[in-house]
Amino acid sequence: FLVRKILNCVKMKKTFIIGHPIKHSLSPKLHQFWHKKYNINATYEPFDLQNKRELIEFFKRLKKGEFIGGNITVPYKENALILCDEIDKSAREIGAINCVHIKQNQIYGFNSDWLGFLANLDYQVPDWANKAQQKQALILGAGGASRAIIYALLSRKFTKIHILNRTFAKAKDLAKNLGKYCGHDVQIIAHKFENFAFLAPNISILVNTTSIGMDSTKFDNLALDKLPKNVIINDIVYRPINTPLLIEAKKQGLKTVNGLGMLLNQAVLPFKKWFLQEPEIDDELLKYMYILLGEKFNLDEK
Ligand code: ATR
Repeated sequence: FLVRKILNCVKMKKTFIIGHPIKHSLSPKLHQFWHKKYNINATYEPFDLQNKRELIEFFKRLKKGEFIGGNITVPYKENALILCDEIDKSAREIGAINCVHIKQNQIYGFNSDWLGFLANLDYQVPDWANKAQQKQALILGAGGASRAIIYALLSRKFTKIHILNRTFAKAKDLAKNLGKYCGHDVQIIAHKFENFAFLAPNISILVNTTSIGMDSTKFDNLALDKLPKNVIINDIVYRPINTPLLIEAKKQGLKTVNGLGMLLNQAVLPFKKWFLQEPEIDDELLKYMYILLGEKFNLDEK
């Protein structure tokens, strides 16, 4: 352990993020912040891969040992999984990876999105899952992020998970697919957006995993007033920090959780695996991220 720590300072280590598009990713700044803080001699470089062929080529490069690890983001989280030599159980069940660790030219894939989602909520709303009276969750969206979050909610014993998606068929596929890992006492149900008002009164947590909210785009007609007063509204969009959904929820006096926390928390596990150092999410880091996002840092709102 000590030897590894000393090596962190001496030998330069390379890490990466791949995706498309990638230029707006905050991850390089985040990791570089931690490299500096912990005196680690490392790089974290973004690579914009245009297609699956480039992804395959990149994984061939990984096998040669140039990098110690990296992150995988949209749209390659599913495709990258099958290119790994080994993947952990949660990544296999989610069907996607967002991180790899390379040791002796073997690529180990894992998923920290679901853990980041949970760690953030545990910090922001302690005991949120135990306090949830109905154990019912409503998820907007049926893409990669939705899968990881449903998996996370299942791990906290939610028994009814409603998926609402613009493309109903995708919600149905996802419900069926994740349903395989559930017991008979758990239901994952696909809906059209029109069902929102009908489902709302029994929901303990609402999570937006769609791209609505980015650049302040809005949902039309989400009847937030039908939700119970003790519901949690978690938007995983973090540009802007205060999405129209969160602004509206706050107006109605509901508990809100923004998307920055999940982004920061999902980065903790890979960093720990690569450098044997648990990175801290402190006020200094939060302030830095808020500035990068062009937002005012408000200690009450982290
Ligand atoms: P991610 O990995 O971030 O989840 P994704 O897999 O591309 O990204 O999923 C994007 C999600 O946002 C999908 O649920 C998508 O809905 P569709 O399945 O109908 O495409 C949803 N989404 C994106 N733009 C949307 C829009 N303008 N209105 C409603 N839903 C939208």
